[in-house]
Amino acid sequence: MIEKEVGKWEKVKTKDDTFTLKSLEYNECYHSSEGALKETYYKHVGVAVDLMKDIEDEEIRILDICFGLGYNTFVSVLNRPKNKKLKIFSPELDLELIKSLKNFKYPKEFNEISHIIKKVSENLYYKDDFVEIEIKNTDARDYVKTLNNIHFIYQDAFSPKVNRELWTIEYFRDLKNILNKNGAITTYSVATPVRCALYKLGFKLFTHKSDIIRKGTIAALKDIDYPKVDFEEKLKRVECKVYEDEN
Ligand SMILES: C[S@@+](CC[C@H](N)C(=O)[O-])C[C@H]1O[C@@H](n2cnc3c(N)ncnc32)[C@H](O)[C@@H]1O
Repeated sequence: MIEKEVGKWEKVKTKDDTFTLKSLEYNECYHSSEGALKETYYKHVGVAVDLMKDIEDEEIRILDICFGLGYNTFVSVLNRPKNKKLKIFSPELDLELIKSLKNFKYPKEFNEISHIIKKVSENLYYKDDFVEIEIKNTDARDYVKTLNNIHFIYQDAFSPKVNRELWTIEYFRDLKNILNKNGAITTYSVATPVRCALYKLGFKLFTHKSDIIRKGTIAALKDIDYPKVDFEEKLKRVECKVYEDEN
């Protein structure tokens, strides 16, 4: 339900009563109409928190593509296992959006981290003893090349139709290069060219367990305890086409 226009965006109330925005530039919403908070937890953060249990490293490094309203980052902070530190890296082209977030109407669950939201919105950075958040106002394609040893990547760009540069096989190759061997990529996308790129790069493909929300794709370099996508069966019927860089 569209509430009102705020400059480059329209404020939208989703089905779980949490708010997102619709970008007038991309003509897409930042979250699914099923629920901004619900989508964030079930598609991305819940999977990472679950898989973290099998990771011995004390510090978990997360790449949030891209920051947008910061739901993925903030919900990760709220669900941090007590025995883990989090370091979250996130690129975002839209500085005006980040600066506006300290006034965004987040779900009440975010109240306890309002000091973090304010710091991140003002300084693009936050650090305490357990959490470090770094936002870089730059193109995600350049930023990912500067990182290493990332445990979880939340692949949450706008759709390939309008944000194609963040769904190409070249970009996913860069993600693979920085992913920890025990890590995973989570995304809402089930598009064949996206799954095909991940498959060609040697990822194993899984999907979500919960029926609470539309299922997406989880890509990992090893077997994980999630429903497997039988992509080889699919490839008997469809051609394995991927999105490629245009230049
Ligand atoms: C679907 S939204 C992300 C939603 C976000 N994860 C959240 O929880 O609110 C996609 C974001 O990607 C940003 N973006 C698009 N292309 C980008 C690029 N090449 N580099 C960095 N940011 C980009 C957009 O400005 C937008 O904020």
